[in-house]
Amino acid sequence: MSSKSYIESNRERFLEELFELLRIPSISADSAFSGDVRKCAETVADFLKTAGADNVILEETAGYPIVYGEKIIDTNLPTVLIYGHYDVQPSVPDELWDTPPFEPTIKNDKIYARGACDDKGQMFMHVKAFESMMQTNELTCNVKFMIEGEEEVGSSNLDTYCKNNKEKLKADVILISDTSMLANDMPSIDVGLRGLSYVEVEVTGPNIDLHSGVYGGAVANPINVLCDMIAGMKDENNHITIPGFYKDVLEVSPEDRAAMAKTPFSLDIYKSHLEIDDVMGEEGFSTLERTGIRPTLDVNGIWGGYTGEGAKTVLPSKAYAKISMRLVPNQSSETITKLFTDYFNSVAPKSVKVKVTPHHGGEPVLTPTDSVPYKAAAAAMKDTFGKDPIPTRGGGSIPIVALFEKELETKTVLMGFGLDSDAIHSPNEHYGVFNYFRGIETIPRFFYHFAEMNK
Ligand code: BES
Ligand code: MN
Ligand code: MN
Repeated sequence: MSSKSYIESNRERFLEELFELLRIPSISADSAFSGDVRKCAETVADFLKTAGADNVILEETAGYPIVYGEKIIDTNLPTVLIYGHYDVQPSVPDELWDTPPFEPTIKNDKIYARGACDDKGQMFMHVKAFESMMQTNELTCNVKFMIEGEEEVGSSNLDTYCKNNKEKLKADVILISDTSMLANDMPSIDVGLRGLSYVEVEVTGPNIDLHSGVYGGAVANPINVLCDMIAGMKDENNHITIPGFYKDVLEVSPEDRAAMAKTPFSLDIYKSHLEIDDVMGEEGFSTLERTGIRPTLDVNGIWGGYTGEGAKTVLPSKAYAKISMRLVPNQSSETITKLFTDYFNSVAPKSVKVKVTPHHGGEPVLTPTDSVPYKAAAAAMKDTFGKDPIPTRGGGSIPIVALFEKELETKTVLMGFGLDSDAIHSPNEHYGVFNYFRGIETIPRFFYHFAEMNK
């Protein structure tokens, strides 16, 4: 039996097993769910064992465990290291979901649940593809699994784990499905990920909340000041004004930009999907360029003062914001965080005090298209989609990819099967049943081509 027909005859079970994972609210950001995150790690480990992996263990870290498992069939064959994550983003606000976030539901051939696409659905494709290759004698490479539980909170313990386990994690390629493709009939492979610099700012005015009539107009309102400071970080062309912000940005050649401009993309569909009348971004760049090759600065949350029911006349003592900057090659998150901090301190009026606290960061990556891993992934997608995939640059970040390159000296291939419209991190996250099975069918083809190309 071929892996393709094995997958065909096990469809129902493959879906039901994914549902089992999706029912576990493994939200890494919220400590109220720590028991569930751990339970999810154990469940992944059990599935790996059942699929046929050896030496499956929960590698303890200072945070959530990393699930490791392997199948070494022949040390002369190449080794594929699969990376994925079993943690998910918080589901809040739950009332915006049409079906409960942790009760997976299929509607219009899509699986609705938090983590359906990012990344349980995509990660689990690898477990099921591995099981299928084991059952049909199609495993052509050694395989190692490293499935972590802290990706959505910055992978802060993976660094140490990789440094301490270089030999164990030794591989010829790292294969990750945690990105999206252009469309179900338009396969693509992400060849770039943006980096990230994430900070939290605190602006303090008076030492206590004041009556906004008694003091208003005479004492700095930290919320007003914070808004001014944020507004001043972009000019009329939506260019970021932090001095030196663009200094290290790798300018993309006119040839590469011309190639990007050929990517099939409809701005009208994009706008109608988001129900917006217009897009907004840096002058002089297309939408795909704004997310693919240009850095950004976005406020992720802002708060302070009175937000409860009714009106309370208050001049607040403090204001806060969480701000993220997406980075492109060759920007460094450490440098950008420092530039931001210096700038924020320098523009603060004397009437307030400011504090900048850096959160996690991550470095941008670019992966080559003329490499064996890319070619094997492209050939695999060609087999199952009947079309050559298009190389694209995604706007998201997977900070550990740069780390893998540095610590493990191993290249990554980002063979993702999601769609940008899958609402990852949003209410009603979903993943196509088509995408799930297309992924499970494509992964064995990657193993096949990767082994062939390494002969
Ligand atoms: N899978 C995403 C990243 C992604 C999504 C890349 C779509 C390309 C296309 C990942 O789980 C994620 O959400 N990463 C975070 C960064 C992390 C440090 C919290 C992100 O991009 O915000
Ligand atoms: Mn992810
Ligand atoms: Mn994510």
